[in-house]
Amino acid sequence: MARKAPISSKKRKSLPKRAAGHAAPNAEVTVEPDFVWTRKDLLGLDELSPREIVCLLETAESFKEVSTRSIKKVPAMRGKVVGLLFFEDSTRTRMSFELAASRLSADSLLFTAKGSSVSKGETTMDTVRNIEAMGVDVFVMRHGQSGAPHMVARQVEASVVNAGDGSHEHPTQALLDIFTMRQRLGGIAGKKVAIVGDIAHSRVARSNILGLRKLGAEVVVVGPPTLVPNAITAMGCSISHCLDDVLGEVDAINMLRIQFERFGGGLFPSLREYHKLYGMDAERLKRCRRDVLIMHPGPINRGVEITTEVADGPNSCILQQVTNGLAIRMAVLYLVSQGRE
Ligand code: CP
Repeated sequence: MARKAPISSKKRKSLPKRAAGHAAPNAEVTVEPDFVWTRKDLLGLDELSPREIVCLLETAESFKEVSTRSIKKVPAMRGKVVGLLFFEDSTRTRMSFELAASRLSADSLLFTAKGSSVSKGETTMDTVRNIEAMGVDVFVMRHGQSGAPHMVARQVEASVVNAGDGSHEHPTQALLDIFTMRQRLGGIAGKKVAIVGDIAHSRVARSNILGLRKLGAEVVVVGPPTLVPNAITAMGCSISHCLDDVLGEVDAINMLRIQFERFGGGLFPSLREYHKLYGMDAERLKRCRRDVLIMHPGPINRGVEITTEVADGPNSCILQQVTNGLAIRMAVLYLVSQGRE
């Protein structure tokens, strides 16, 4: 990876302490104080080195403090414009990127496909080029097609951040998940994480497996054979088709939503049976480690992948994930806007 000009000392001053990336206290992977982020795009965790991932986590750690101030803003991106391109629905990711841009003092432009000229036949690339012509520095893009942000990144000058592309990757979700695990478990290396449910269609699962493995965690994916492709083991995780077998041996359990919008149904007999075999409920929670972390990227289908009792119970960190997402997205916007690869 080519190293380019470091973040200027003037820019560093606008950041809270530690934002330039220092060694992680509890993980095996550490980042040297002189490490320089160079990427202008964040398209997936696949292309990131372990040190780049830790740099993002450490930068987010610094930005977390900003949200505790009475005036919750830093001037790190003053004068920059963030274009939020949401070709697919979102609540958490869209609002958290919008707030992150605002906390960094950037202007933001929100595009949602619903109500736009997409209905008149405008292509994705024409839409993006027209918005770029308004003077955008960073695009944040969610799209139903895997690879759409990569296509855009090849054709625009602005930075591009993948906010979820089809079944491919959702890097900022995985970063906020890993950030939360690191915060709650004291580190990532050597921890064992179960990712449960619709692995086949999940960009969250793919990005989590990539990030967790790069930081030294063990990952087991759990679900029915129709929703867990055998080829997933090439990413360095193991497979179990029995949730009850893994409950007692994991530090965190990430429950995934079944992505009906990507396959329409027919891959298991009924939601009732799915819940019986793969749903997290109070009985299963009793068989877990006492301090097991229960996670979910949202949106939740209560009573399907997780019961309300568990989702809102003491082991759940679902809302903490959302809170941490803001700091992660501030870190991502800040770093890519500095990157000049
Ligand atoms: N976790 C997640 O991506 O949620 P949204 O679809 O609401 O952004």
